Amino acid sequence: MEKPKKTKGSGGFSGQLGFVLAAAGSAVGVGNLWRFPYLAAKDGGGLFIIVYLVLVLTFGFTLLTSDIAIGRKTKKSAIHAYAAINPKWKFLGILTFLVPALIMTYYAVIGGWITKYFTVYVTGMAEAAAADGFFVSFITSPVSPVFFALIFMALTALIVYKGVEGGIEKVSKIIMPVLLVMIVGITVFVFTISHTDDSGVTRTGLGGLLVYFTPNFEGLTPGKFMQVLLDAMSQLFFSLSVSMGIMITYGSYVKPDVNLNKSINQIEIVDTGVALLAGAMLVPAVYVFSGVEGMSVGPSLMFVSLPKVFASMGPAGPVLGGVFFIMAAFAALTSCISVLEPIVADCMELFKSTRKKTTLVLMIIYMAASAVVVLGYSIFYFEVKLPNGSTGQLLDIMDYISNSFMMPFVSLLSCILIGWVIGPKWVIDEVESSGHRFTRKALYRVMIKYVAPIMMFLLFLQSTGILGLIIK
Ligand code: PHE
Repeated sequence: MEKPKKTKGSGGFSGQLGFVLAAAGSAVGVGNLWRFPYLAAKDGGGLFIIVYLVLVLTFGFTLLTSDIAIGRKTKKSAIHAYAAINPKWKFLGILTFLVPALIMTYYAVIGGWITKYFTVYVTGMAEAAAADGFFVSFITSPVSPVFFALIFMALTALIVYKGVEGGIEKVSKIIMPVLLVMIVGITVFVFTISHTDDSGVTRTGLGGLLVYFTPNFEGLTPGKFMQVLLDAMSQLFFSLSVSMGIMITYGSYVKPDVNLNKSINQIEIVDTGVALLAGAMLVPAVYVFSGVEGMSVGPSLMFVSLPKVFASMGPAGPVLGGVFFIMAAFAALTSCISVLEPIVADCMELFKSTRKKTTLVLMIIYMAASAVVVLGYSIFYFEVKLPNGSTGQLLDIMDYISNSFMMPFVSLLSCILIGWVIGPKWVIDEVESSGHRFTRKALYRVMIKYVAPIMMFLLFLQSTGILGLIIK
């Protein structure tokens, strides 16, 4: 075994468990809870699930391993980490840093929406939340969503302010197990429900589960399959929190003797497990009460369809709604702290400032930014047509630039850097530096050099709308 290297200051994770839970906390977020179930329902149920699982084990694992190894080996955050690998590639560090810097402008806004829904359920207003127009009238009001976004941002900053072990790790160690228990609990409950609608049709939770897991090949064309593949790929990216500096920063806090091979497997299992469970809960729940057509697109699944489902459930509904939204708030909080942390860490390295001072300054900046983004639905309302064909407001624009446009680009460049400039051995050596075996070493080599860059390039073409033009 190699002699343990010095860990960065006093601010690292205490060990493997703390690291895995914090990283899984980052990975498990609203992406698992609403985006995965919605995509699974849209893209042929089991078909999407199979494609997604294959991608997690190959492509997701490659990107996650690269990020974490870069962090642990350089002991630095994105900007300085890439500069340390090769000074000519510092620009990639800067690009990577920009991703969380942009995501931070809107993540607390979504966290605020979820928190608001939680308060609605605990104050016994479940009926109101199910009413038509509730969501829209809430997000377009100029005060309430600002208030909740600011609270969520402040809470996030408070945790980051307390440091890696005393803040992030501690919170993740409490929240993650609670979250896992809650999601298993709600999912099992949903299996037991059934409902007969006005036309006399009875649908059961188990029937819904079948809809969710059965691969649907109906009308599948090569073009459609390509869409499923791209959907699964972009979901994977977002879900594993890769290529945005988060896992580089978290990796830089990992002790040299931690088994990275095993940690990465565990992070993948938790993230994918929660996504599968969320689907197994949400798809049947919506199916039982609204049929397959009830699966609405995007955030409205969580904020419009689900409250209606809870309202139709009878006495259990409001309780379940409360549990669901507190769980979602927890998931969003551990993700939100993981967006702020790399920004703080990068700024600490750039300005040689303390954690406390940096966090406070960033908190003020991002409170202002979040307020502006929230008001993008009211005072500053405007609509823009995005290159992928959808229309969006301020929040969607930030989301589009960071997730659809920059992430595949950053990822593509980092595959080229590792695969072709410094070589995969650089990462493999780091994974094995603790004396543990890197089990998917051969796969890693092929993925990072050939498969991942091509897939990233396709994803990039798709998000910029160029692929659509070619396929048409
Ligand atoms: N991985 C998180 C999820 O699945 C989302 C996330 C995106 C977290 C960006 C941090 C940064 O919801």
